[in-house]
Amino acid sequence: MSTETQAPATSQGADERRDSITVTDNRTGRSYEMPITDGTVRGLDFRQVKVSDDDFGLMLYDPGYANVAACRSSITYLDGDRGILQYRGYPIQDLAQSSTYLEVAYLLIHGELPTQAQLDEWTHQITIHTFVHENVKSFMQGFRHDAHPMGMLLGSVGALSTFYPDANEIDDPENRSIQTIRLIAKMPTLAAFAFRHSRGQPYVYPDNDLSYAGNFLAMMYKMTELKYQPDPRLERALDVLFILHADHEQNCSTSSVRGIGSSRVDPYSAIAGGIGALYGPLHGGANEAVLRMLHRIGRRENIPDFLKGVEEGKERLMGFGHRVYKNFDPRATIIKSAAEDVFAVTGKRNPMLDIALELERIALEDEYFIKRKLYPNVDFYSGLIYEALGLPVEMFPVMFAIGRTSGWVANWLEQVQDREQRIARPRQIYTGQLDRRYVPVEQRG
Ligand code: CMC
Repeated sequence: MSTETQAPATSQGADERRDSITVTDNRTGRSYEMPITDGTVRGLDFRQVKVSDDDFGLMLYDPGYANVAACRSSITYLDGDRGILQYRGYPIQDLAQSSTYLEVAYLLIHGELPTQAQLDEWTHQITIHTFVHENVKSFMQGFRHDAHPMGMLLGSVGALSTFYPDANEIDDPENRSIQTIRLIAKMPTLAAFAFRHSRGQPYVYPDNDLSYAGNFLAMMYKMTELKYQPDPRLERALDVLFILHADHEQNCSTSSVRGIGSSRVDPYSAIAGGIGALYGPLHGGANEAVLRMLHRIGRRENIPDFLKGVEEGKERLMGFGHRVYKNFDPRATIIKSAAEDVFAVTGKRNPMLDIALELERIALEDEYFIKRKLYPNVDFYSGLIYEALGLPVEMFPVMFAIGRTSGWVANWLEQVQDREQRIARPRQIYTGQLDRRYVPVEQRG
């Protein structure tokens, strides 16, 4: 609990060190001591800072929440200055190297790596829940032939709440557990249906003999063959991409999931909101925007002109920059080498890779990018892999959503069990007019 103090802050010796901050309001001369816990000060402690009794009290103004911690979380650790990303304490490099997406999903959800028996049971549960109700298929068929698959995914995930109305019993651990499994299991099925719809091709049912990534490839690409055999190298590359996208602490879509979830709605509605946030070009839509940008640049000779336009503020270099990483994005480093592996399998090196490499090389030596600490992020190279897998650009954010589902669910689960959480409800600084007199329409000029 914070207190108002009379004495202004004085320099203290090491033995007097207190975990608090003293704030002096120069309007009144009053000082307030506020506790510091875990490197943070409680926003509500500032409300006592007032010029008069009827003053509302000081608020924090932070558009984009650049310096606000809205929750405690033990899921993902990120140190942007040192390029560190860890899920439940495990470095992303080790997980990408040795783990599988389903194992990582278990880790994010349960907090620990599974034993073999736990992993087998988890994999079994996810696998047997990959099918969707036939009516889901019919309403997906109702989308226009050229509907964006991300819009289809958003709509169909939201609609799942109507198929599982008991999903709103979010205080029941068993109920939460079954919705968790359903969300992770059904996301690839809905994503593949959306893809097949855009191609005018029949939807392919899940194949429970295949791995998570292998089954997804089958639902995407199976044609007349009796059994689809995914290339194990592509299957692995896809699995690694899912691992790299699985969680990223309080990003725009995850904080949207938490924000919506804070109203205590069912998880399908909350995660549909997360998909909406991910759809935007500054977030998960960036990989789609990168590919469009690379195609627009077209040739290496056009790079300097393009970068001149970026520096003049005409547009952004998509796939560059990050709110948190100011050194390098460790996911981008892993993806860059995975891209080369995939091209080795598909046998065709994507010519856009050369443009991307050259763009990266020039940008990293450019004063504009150096000064602003702008480096390639996860989306800079992921699109090239997706393109090599034969995916149209519209599917790129959908691929991101499949991987991110486990992180969204882990955050939702953490939030609904966190007693400190309240409904998300930021304040505003009102800039409009007050107490205006209503004028009937016929008297308005
Ligand atoms: N190209 C050119 N300039 C940029 C870029 C960029 N990609 N990103 C930031 N800047 C500039 C920006 O104009 C600003 O310059 P100034 O100080 O002169 O006004 C400065 O760098 C700081 O940028 P900001 O917009 O304040 O940074 P932010 O933390 O609000 O935005 C970002 C982060 C990722 C939205 C932004 O870097 C961006 O728009 N990048 C391109 C889109 C992109 O690749 N998004 C994927 C992010 S990673 C995957 C994910 O998590 O979704």
